[in-house]
Amino acid sequence: MLDVQLTFDAPETIPTPALATWVFEADGKPLLEDVLAGFDKKAGGRLKELADAGELTGKSGQSLLLHDAPGLKARRLLLLGAGKREKFAPADLRKLAGTAARFLKARGLTEFAFLLRSLPAATAAADAAQAAVEGVILANFEPATYQTSKKDQKPISALTLAGLPAAEQKTLEAGVTRGRVIADAQNFARELSNEPSNRLTPRLFAERASEMAREVGLGIDVLEEDRLRGLKMGAFLAVARGSEEPPRLVVLTYAPSGWKPGAPVHGEPAQGEPVLALVGKGITFDSGGISIKPGEGMEKMKYDMAGGATMLAALRALARLRPKHKIIAVVPLTENLPSGRAQKPGDVQRAMSGKSIEVINTDAEGRLVLADAVTYARQLGATHLVDAATLTGAIVVALGHVHAGAFTNNQEFLDAFLASARAVGESFWPMPLDDDYADNIKSDIADLRNTGKGRGAGATNAALFIKEFVGDTPWIHLDIAGTAWLEEAKPWMPKGPSGIAVRTLIHFAENFPA
Ligand code: BES
Ligand code: MN
Ligand code: ZN
Repeated sequence: MLDVQLTFDAPETIPTPALATWVFEADGKPLLEDVLAGFDKKAGGRLKELADAGELTGKSGQSLLLHDAPGLKARRLLLLGAGKREKFAPADLRKLAGTAARFLKARGLTEFAFLLRSLPAATAAADAAQAAVEGVILANFEPATYQTSKKDQKPISALTLAGLPAAEQKTLEAGVTRGRVIADAQNFARELSNEPSNRLTPRLFAERASEMAREVGLGIDVLEEDRLRGLKMGAFLAVARGSEEPPRLVVLTYAPSGWKPGAPVHGEPAQGEPVLALVGKGITFDSGGISIKPGEGMEKMKYDMAGGATMLAALRALARLRPKHKIIAVVPLTENLPSGRAQKPGDVQRAMSGKSIEVINTDAEGRLVLADAVTYARQLGATHLVDAATLTGAIVVALGHVHAGAFTNNQEFLDAFLASARAVGESFWPMPLDDDYADNIKSDIADLRNTGKGRGAGATNAALFIKEFVGDTPWIHLDIAGTAWLEEAKPWMPKGPSGIAVRTLIHFAENFPA
């Protein structure tokens, strides 16, 4: 666990292997202001010299490591470019702290001090502390969990936060704790997404969920096949048929009054009580089924449960942060495999809602399991729905790996969600979902078909399909297929599972109903 200390001492007196901070840029030159001006003076104009030589610009992405800077108790000074001050957002603090952590970790250091200075006027000190802690914990995430040779990089184990006001010590400490809870949750989602499918089957996923629920005091219900059949979840079970691994449906319950072991997991929500349901796609491996995927890249389909991991992680953090309203998570878990028992193209299934579905392509399985999961969430009393799913390759074509797609049947609800996303530095792009697309998912033999006609609007067609099951419940659908996995490392994050949407969902749930 990362040790975090606050110090209110003057930056030049902090004894640390490395003091990290940032530099803004204006007109291609670094802004050597406040304490940096002081350092520069004591160092006989060395920073100014490096600026003139172009080695220090303050441009975003640039870094400069100075050893034994005169006048500094710290052994090293790490200066990170932060770009233009006008463009600086609190979310950039998270990236800068993460960049410092990864930069120093790669050089064998395990401790550093992060100097928070020259913050935008609207930034609360506690939020800055929180963002810095999050940045370091997220940067510490190590995806190579199954390598047997000794890891050559140790994680950052101790962080000192400097430059924040001593008068706010109490709220700063609360910010540090929040940062820890939230980043640990995001890393939990990344850990699960990273697991290969042989080590995270639906049963093992449900076990991990149970352990977690016990640890943080959430209600949990794990539904096995007989109950799923009793509930007539024909769409979900149709996907599960092809696999020898039995499916599971995990329901987690957070209640503001606390949940005691032995109490009913769901209970009846009181009249008018808002209940937010977070529904996550939990395909622990997606081969495509009979409509099998090409071999190249198929190994990636172990993270087809990232949406489910996201919802588990959000509930884990919320159990600790204790918002005012009831929140549940619903995660349908199965593999999507071909076998002699697997569903076939052209098969017609009946969903829990009663709607019939012609399965045109067995690789469009996510929408099938989500159809029954959202129906069940509504039966459990959900008044508001958010689902997250690695649902379509089409969203990757539309938005690449930069933004996740966001669809809704209620613009106000989505606007509140997007405000949360901005606040925590995640990015979702609104996508269209109007009735003009509705013909795309009409079947000649059943109520619906599970893929669109023609090649266009694939991500919208998938969202439209789920919309058929949400009724008039305010609902947001997040297609995270392009953003749940980082193909390239960022200076502040290793490549691999990203934990996208965890932070936004936590912020959103804490402020729910908006
Ligand atoms: N799990 C995939 C979507 C996906 C693609 C996730 C890339 C992560 C990265 C989903 O189940 C799928 O196979 N979708 C199909 C739908 C098609 C058959 C209509 C797709 O997008 O190709
Ligand atoms: Mn698929
Ligand atoms: Zn899938």
